[in-house]
Amino acid sequence: MNTKFNHTKAELDSFAPRILNWFDDYGRHDLPWQQHKTDTPNPYIVWLSEVMLQQTQVTTVIPYFQRFMTSFPTVQDLANAEWDNVAEHWAGLGYYARARNLHKGAKQLVEIIEETGDFPQTVEGWEAISGVGQSTAGAIVAMGLHGYGVICDGNVKRVITRWAGIEGDITKSATTKELWALAERLTPTEDSGHFAQAMMDMGATLCTRRNPNCSQCPIHADCIAYHQGKQESYPVKAKKKPKPSKFSNALVITNTDDKILWLQRPDSGIWGGLWVLPLQFEKKTLGKKLLSTSDEDKAYESENSLAEQIVDQWIADNDLKTHPINDGLLESAPIKHTLTHFHWYLQPQTLALNAKQAEQLSKLLTDADINILWLPATEAKETLGLPKAMLKVLEAI
Ligand code: ADE
Repeated sequence: MNTKFNHTKAELDSFAPRILNWFDDYGRHDLPWQQHKTDTPNPYIVWLSEVMLQQTQVTTVIPYFQRFMTSFPTVQDLANAEWDNVAEHWAGLGYYARARNLHKGAKQLVEIIEETGDFPQTVEGWEAISGVGQSTAGAIVAMGLHGYGVICDGNVKRVITRWAGIEGDITKSATTKELWALAERLTPTEDSGHFAQAMMDMGATLCTRRNPNCSQCPIHADCIAYHQGKQESYPVKAKKKPKPSKFSNALVITNTDDKILWLQRPDSGIWGGLWVLPLQFEKKTLGKKLLSTSDEDKAYESENSLAEQIVDQWIADNDLKTHPINDGLLESAPIKHTLTHFHWYLQPQTLALNAKQAEQLSKLLTDADINILWLPATEAKETLGLPKAMLKVLEAI
């Protein structure tokens, strides 16, 4: 028995060949970004697809990936694109920070190419690009450059914690270290790109979170979780604390032409740089417990800070009444959006302004250097690349 790992040398050494044999026969070989078999692999394609695939399923990513490649076939095209155009291509895919990172990353890559004549060639070089973590960098070097790269993403962690019976909490750094050491030990020095793609396929198609298909698995003979009959107990992950719920009104403010007021969000934070409706913080709860409603909290929780505070204050100063589109109870808000730290409930409220009011509010906002637009719902949907939650608001009104 190897002292560092739970398996014998023979079992460790035969892991990759078994996975690669299985992949040849049963893996996915027709994904549009696959570069492991091409003679001249394209790191741009692998970088773009890996960032898109970071939190999103293959079937969702494919049409987005294809649209990106059609509009921005090279990293230079992406770097030179306007942010609004990139955001439009991303709209609906979620986790917008990834799109901002891609745009910024493209500019960083172009600079490196101009200096060195080529894309970064090492894992460390790729890790320096915005939005590229250790596993994504490993995948790019392995699949996009045919170099040596190790991946240890969620799929790989599931496969190897089961196979090696690793019971440590995978959110703890000691376990992370152990997992990376094992992933490195298992990755073949030749063909690590094939191996990366094969491990992702194993995780996605056989070693699934629920009901893994162990009878078809090439490594079940020495899989510890399989022998324990405890596949679904791995990976061990500390129970997440329940998330608080935040309730906001999404204001559909219209002018006399039935055009809706849109605000461009600041570059940082959720939906950075995107066009959204003004949001009005109402309250935050954890279960039934109320966490905040004070004015100070309102200002703090107001996600668009200045613009929203101006709208809020102006509505209060003018004694205007907004109208909920349903029974008005925040708990039955039709839009629920789950983010890393909270669930967000959005309640659409309508407010129709007369010409003078619309002009007054526009002036207040533009005087504060806030970008605004008045656009009807249909045109906003077609031209602004709205976040999904905003599309849901438009459907609800
Ligand atoms: N998930 C992350 N990267 C992937 C890839 N290259 N192919 C399939 N699924 C993935």
